[in-house]
Amino acid sequence: MKKITIAIDGFSSTGKSTIAKQLAKELSYVYVDSGAMYRAVTLYAMQHNFISSSFFDIEGLVTSLDLIVLTFKYNSAVGFAEVYLNGMNVEKEIRTLEVSNLVSKVAEISEVRKSLVQQQQNMGLNKGVVMDGRDIGTVVFPNAELKLFMNASATTRAQRRYDELIERGDKVTFDEILKNVEYRDFIDSTREDSPLVMAEDAIAIDNSNLTLEAQFEKIYALVLQKLKTV
Ligand code: CDP
Ligand code: CDP
Repeated sequence: MKKITIAIDGFSSTGKSTIAKQLAKELSYVYVDSGAMYRAVTLYAMQHNFISSSFFDIEGLVTSLDLIVLTFKYNSAVGFAEVYLNGMNVEKEIRTLEVSNLVSKVAEISEVRKSLVQQQQNMGLNKGVVMDGRDIGTVVFPNAELKLFMNASATTRAQRRYDELIERGDKVTFDEILKNVEYRDFIDSTREDSPLVMAEDAIAIDNSNLTLEAQFEKIYALVLQKLKTV
């Protein structure tokens, strides 16, 4: 069967990576979490004192971009490819609230975007890829055969993310998470370079009232429909 490219964009914590992983598994496609790449660059910037809550040495980070090597390695125990920063698995470290609070600032920098978009496009050269993020259908793969744009109410999204972080033992409050979700949505949608906007040919999905199963059923039907036409 012909392989397609599936681009999934949307607001933070809307379930993009969950559906992307499910689709990749079902279709035997490659899943790429583009947000993990922005998070890993942010972690690097934190580790090298280029960014904190009170300062941001943009030039320092930009001149170090060549030193940041990101790779994905499939982990069969979890069923998806995990991100490595200069050879170290950073899958857990990039999900902290601290990284979440700084990542949108890093993602505003055009040089960072240019470097990551190039790597993302290379990963999709052979199609058969499901990638989620903010600019996948608009910038990374404008010719993707299927584009989805996910949304859900901010409180639903914050609750889902809060539950996730509490379950893994992080000490956070619901209000902190809600604030972070709203803050990132604002910066991501208003930045100059590649803002989060719905591609004209994307299909909007609001999953505020959809279970994971219902969401999968609905989206998988869209994929099968699309596969019949390519
Ligand atoms: O999973 P969650 O919705 O919390 O976010 P993510 O996909 O891990 O992305 C983290 C941040 O990276 C976003 O809030 C954006 O600032 C940035 N990002 C981006 O600018 N472009 C992408 N293609 C993916 C993420
Ligand atoms: O990738 P993104 O940040 O958009 O979201 P995610 O990490 O896939 O999903 C955030 C959380 O919402 C996860 O714990 C999902 O299981 C949950 N979720 C849900 O409960 N119901 C949905 N319809 C979608 C996601």
